[in-house]
Amino acid sequence: MMIHVALPKGRLGEKVYELFEQAGYGCPSIREKNRKLIFENPEAGISFFWVKPTDVAIYVERGAADVGVAGKDILNEYEPDVYELMDLQLGKCRMCVCGKADFTPDASRPLKVATKFPRTAKAYYSGRSRDIDIINLHGSIELAPLLGLSDVIVDIVETGKTLAENGLVPLAEVYSISARLISNKASLKFKYQAIECLRSSLERCVENVRPAGGQEAGLSSAGPVKGEV
Ligand code: PRP
Repeated sequence: MMIHVALPKGRLGEKVYELFEQAGYGCPSIREKNRKLIFENPEAGISFFWVKPTDVAIYVERGAADVGVAGKDILNEYEPDVYELMDLQLGKCRMCVCGKADFTPDASRPLKVATKFPRTAKAYYSGRSRDIDIINLHGSIELAPLLGLSDVIVDIVETGKTLAENGLVPLAEVYSISARLISNKASLKFKYQAIECLRSSLERCVENVRPAGGQEAGLSSAGPVKGEV
């Protein structure tokens, strides 16, 4: 029985694939330099394909992939109808409200918030009964407060480098993020043994690499957050 896996293209995907490899689900042809999109290892019962990180949940929800790896940010924003099977402890970062260091909110008008994550931003501010005006962008979000397009941004902070290099700071944390193994609901039922075997193998690898002491990797230089905005 084959398990079809949607991997997020890019830096996170490389790390995720290495974890699958350590868990005994490697696929040597994936290392070949070519433009192929699907890679199979019938002996290990696995096939991989690379998709845009934001599309992984769509492939899994609709059953084109049995399992996939998606960031908690994507799962929170799109709420796909999938099972979340485990935290892979990779791709750790934070969803934050960020702005200029001297930013002072003006309660007399809606806060202008630029983001790629409109539902996340709406949920965060409606929980604080704050009226906002969402400006839905698709990249380079940090430009918005610099050009006066928005007061703040709701965006991902990993190392904090992009913020620091543009004179911005994290003002409040919305939630912490890491990569999750997700499964199509029907696949988990019909391929239960195979998927559970994959999940437990990945879990053993994750437990072996988890740092002692609970220090979250990759966040140390992102700086403290000031609080509510
Ligand atoms: C993400 C995010 C920030 C940056 C944060 O952007 O939107 O811009 O990474 O990383 P850092 O804290 O390590 O600097 P991405 O690279 O996905 O590109 P984008 O601007 O197209 O959204």
